[in-house]
Amino acid sequence: MIQNENVRPESMERIVTPALAEAFIAEQVEALRAQIGEGKVLLALSGGVDSSVVAALLIRAVGSQLTCIHVNHGLMRKGESEQVQRVFRDELGANLIYIDATDRFLDKLAGVTDPEQKRKIIGGEFIRVFEEESAKLSGIRFLAQGTIYPDILESDGIKAHHNVGGLPEDVQFELVEPVKLLFKDEVREVGRALGLPASMVDRQPFPGPGLGVRCVGAITRDRLAAVRESDAILREEFEREGLAGRVWQYFTIVPDFKSTGIRDGKRTFEWPVVIRAINTRDAMAVTIEQLPWPLLERLTQRITTEVPGVNRVLYDLTPKPTGTIEWE
Ligand code: XMP
Repeated sequence: MIQNENVRPESMERIVTPALAEAFIAEQVEALRAQIGEGKVLLALSGGVDSSVVAALLIRAVGSQLTCIHVNHGLMRKGESEQVQRVFRDELGANLIYIDATDRFLDKLAGVTDPEQKRKIIGGEFIRVFEEESAKLSGIRFLAQGTIYPDILESDGIKAHHNVGGLPEDVQFELVEPVKLLFKDEVREVGRALGLPASMVDRQPFPGPGLGVRCVGAITRDRLAAVRESDAILREEFEREGLAGRVWQYFTIVPDFKSTGIRDGKRTFEWPVVIRAINTRDAMAVTIEQLPWPLLERLTQRITTEVPGVNRVLYDLTPKPTGTIEWE
């Protein structure tokens, strides 16, 4: 019988222990060396779990034959691009090209309010930046991707639905997809066995368009900064409370409206920050995490004092349905 390489064989054990992860790594390192030989490989490294694990696997298998490109679209969370550089360039010694394309993305997005149009611009611009950078390199034969099994199973799923484009299915490259038969929890197990930091491996899902869909409506730099700073405070407090890794997804949103407030005896007119913290199995049906009241009070206190331009904090109690997880 011919084995379809995109179908997980029934005999394939679920990778749930470090020992099984080690065995998978050993097997993949050999398979990658056999596929790639002396060739050069390119990888778009976002810093998400999947592309990070693929990068670490390839570094182990073919070392300097791999070139990673990290495109900072200006919509990353606080500290993320820095962490990608620290882990992959400084600690793992990867060839990493870092592109700060913030201005380019934000200029293109200026004044655009429609959510799907924003996604199209971000997805399209990402491909253009990646293509421009890869065109500067010579002799690349392979393109590595962090495709995982649910991406294959749900080719009409959330990523496919939302992420306009993805990377170019360029005929000039041969694809390298070492984790395409793994489920997310297995990718994380492999990442741990490869020695990636917990903050990278246990990362909550983060949409391709990043903070762009949490800065509701037309993105401005000041409101984007409010999203980024409030998100950093939320993550810090969840960490402190032991909720990080237990709650499926948690983040902040800054809508495009202002309300009146008062600070130091003076009237203010500033944005609200909305907190969202949800649990789900499959992102289709969602319940709301019952956050401890003292935590909500501390978040309100910190966000309204530490984040410029914000005078209120709200907690979104809406399950899905009727609300989606993101606000756009
Ligand atoms: P919604 O908002 O549709 O989100 O309930 C479901 C899950 O998908 C994530 N999401 C995206 N992921 N590109 C992505 O890769 C996107 O454009 C996108 N939009 C939403 C969302 O964070 C949640 O986990």
